[in-house]
Amino acid sequence: MSRPPEVVVHRDADVLAAAVAARLLTRLVDVQSSGRVPSVVLTGGSIARHVHRAVRDSPARGAVDWARLDVWWGDERFVSAADPERNEAQARADLLDALPLDPGRVRPVAASDGPFGADVEAAAADYGEQLASASRFEDHGDVPVFDVLMLGVGPDGHVASLFPDHPARYDERAVVAVRDSPKPPPTRVSMTFPTLSRGREVWFLVTGQDKAPAVRMALGGAGQMQVPAAGPRGLDRTLWMLDSAAAAQLPPDYPRPGS
Ligand code: 6PG
Repeated sequence: MSRPPEVVVHRDADVLAAAVAARLLTRLVDVQSSGRVPSVVLTGGSIARHVHRAVRDSPARGAVDWARLDVWWGDERFVSAADPERNEAQARADLLDALPLDPGRVRPVAASDGPFGADVEAAAADYGEQLASASRFEDHGDVPVFDVLMLGVGPDGHVASLFPDHPARYDERAVVAVRDSPKPPPTRVSMTFPTLSRGREVWFLVTGQDKAPAVRMALGGAGQMQVPAAGPRGLDRTLWMLDSAAAAQLPPDYPRPGS
């Protein structure tokens, strides 16, 4: 049973991005020092981009052995490989291209002009198979346990590409194809709720006033079908990192460090 979510509030998006970058670099160094290869699940969206650039620009970047890191995506926009809207393309441009990663450890979701063409179901099934084949005996399941799994949150409370009122929320496979997403582009591939709770640490990164109601509901007891961000929980820790605008409507009795 994981602990209840913890909340950390930062002044603004710049401070939040720098703080998340510092936390991520420390976590990767600690896991590597323990002799394991860390794994991270990236998300898309504006705050993720901000964090990626902060990692790239951090003077502590050299502390990580980047060739020993597994990289996954919690969701992907199902567009062509060259489309700049791909979460992968944005992560590469903002961060990954600047790092000496092992290409075999970077696992993007197939693009719509990739090996499965426009068949988004096949692309989702393939990602599920990749997860299954990366899962080790000690992971006890068909999905690896990730060290850090990061998620943005939409104003409607969506996480990855699991949107309120969308049938993908009920899918029990590891990865689901999403059609008719309310946020463009309409076709996506997403980890499902069980997979999004396979992080030792699950970090929600949320900035902006328009997210305040979703944060309030997710931390105030809403169910994951109504507010998907209420669902994912880290195996060891669930951490919500907010800027002060996104934290403006936090439930009054919510335990908050420093309050
Ligand atoms: C995507 C994301 C999505 C995103 C949230 C928050 O593909 O768009 O994975 O879930 O993380 O919508 O995005 P912002 O940080 O831009 O608000």
